[in-house]
Amino acid sequence: MAELDPTGPLRRIVILGGGSAGWMSACYLAKSLPDVRVVVLAAPEIPRIGVGEATIPNLQSVFFDLLGLSEDDWMPHCNASFKMGIKFVNWATPGRGEARVRDAYYHVFGLLREHEGLPLSQYWTQRRADGEPTGTFDEDCYWEPALMEARRGPRFADGTSATAHAWHFDANLLADFLARHATTVLGVEHVEDRMTEALLDERGYITALRTAGGRDLEGDLFVDCSGFASLLINRTMGEPFLDMGDRLRCDRAVATPVPYDDADLEPYTSSIAMSAGWTWKVPLLGRFGTGYVYSADFQDPDDAAREFCDLWGLDPAEADLRHLRFRVGRNERAWVRNCVGIGLSSCFLEPLESTGLYFVYGALYLLVRHLTDRRFAPGLVDRFNAEVVRMFDDSRDFLQTHYCLSPRTDTAFWRSQQDLTLSDDVREKIATYRAGLPVNQPTVDVGTYYGNFEAELRNFWTNGSFYCVFAGLGIEPDGPMPVLAHRPEAVRSSADAFAAVAAERDRMLRDLPPTVEDVRRVQGRGDRTT
Ligand code: TRP
Repeated sequence: MAELDPTGPLRRIVILGGGSAGWMSACYLAKSLPDVRVVVLAAPEIPRIGVGEATIPNLQSVFFDLLGLSEDDWMPHCNASFKMGIKFVNWATPGRGEARVRDAYYHVFGLLREHEGLPLSQYWTQRRADGEPTGTFDEDCYWEPALMEARRGPRFADGTSATAHAWHFDANLLADFLARHATTVLGVEHVEDRMTEALLDERGYITALRTAGGRDLEGDLFVDCSGFASLLINRTMGEPFLDMGDRLRCDRAVATPVPYDDADLEPYTSSIAMSAGWTWKVPLLGRFGTGYVYSADFQDPDDAAREFCDLWGLDPAEADLRHLRFRVGRNERAWVRNCVGIGLSSCFLEPLESTGLYFVYGALYLLVRHLTDRRFAPGLVDRFNAEVVRMFDDSRDFLQTHYCLSPRTDTAFWRSQQDLTLSDDVREKIATYRAGLPVNQPTVDVGTYYGNFEAELRNFWTNGSFYCVFAGLGIEPDGPMPVLAHRPEAVRSSADAFAAVAAERDRMLRDLPPTVEDVRRVQGRGDRTT
């Protein structure tokens, strides 16, 4: 670059990598910073059938709304289907039973309803203590579980939304779609080449990426989307990766797509506990993506493949199994000098709560709010890094609770969950729950929650999430919320609030179409019959 003035405005951003993180970054940054030149360095990829990506509702409000793309605009390009929550199967019951499904609970999107200023969870606990008839927590407090069981979708026949929902899709197709959008609509330049080295100045800032084809791609800011290879942030900048294998034990997966009779398309992700981990199931039209996430310390890959194939009735010798290894943890700092890692180069958590893409656009959202000029004010970089740490560690802690509160003791893997390193924050949340108090109850309603990422970031794992998982595992508070002893009238009238949930459920069961109808219509396969 001709001039050496390090204080001017940003002019060029170079992104290394063309996976979903690379193209999400390209779209997000080009749209947010229209006068900045965005260049993506990515070799053409060999296309593969994706094993299914699961997401959360703010994908639309934080990412696609910024691009001006509605569900109906983007869904047809990536074989997307709808998701209303996660069904956790066999996480509570020790031992291998006869039946495939021994226990199940739903983790439902959206906020828990309130009655007289307190969430329904507190009344549910009180009613149990009072010996009132109750069902399971999720079915009593939300109407969505019954809808998921009945395979209804989250939208009415006219396409309007009935409930907070997210999506399943093929992440490779999403990356292709975003690449086309970036290059044809947003003016992003795609350099189809490989990086051979990163050039640094005397301060240790990256000045350019040198390509195999002999080009030097100069830039002011470099975004590392090179995946687990982490070519810029770890290899070039030397930032240490903090391995968190002492907090989450799974470090491998074996995955494959499976043909699927989508007449019965499930509007939820399944997470099925196994002997040394759990298996995801992400239903799409025509197939579902699935993978067994397990710990190599407790099961070898052949045995894991056998257990996984047995679950779906596949022949391990015939199935197209992909074996993956991953590192769990994050870089000490996501942003170092003029290099920021986004996606797997920055951090990785197993996909248990569908946080993968959220970490990508969540970091991009934070990045554009902390960018200044080419000096990259250190205070802002530090603040961005602290926000990313909070976003990641908070989710890591929540994931841990699924394991350490599980009553399963049937294998060494499950027994070892009692020895996890836990943060003070998560210990306090577990203690709060046991004391009968709401955990992390946001003071906004559902609409405001998903429309306001700042509010969601502060209360990402809400009281409803904690209750779904903890109560779903059979862990109940030690007693009801103490203050309710002084409010007998509110406790009595809470029966009406539960009745309202049941009435809503019955109305929705009547009004909402099967999810497969809506998904086929969006995909332009509406006239297909089975
Ligand atoms: N705040 C997030 C949301 O409501 C929490 C979340 C992430 C979540 N993954 C989830 C909630 C899965 C329910 C199910 O989307």
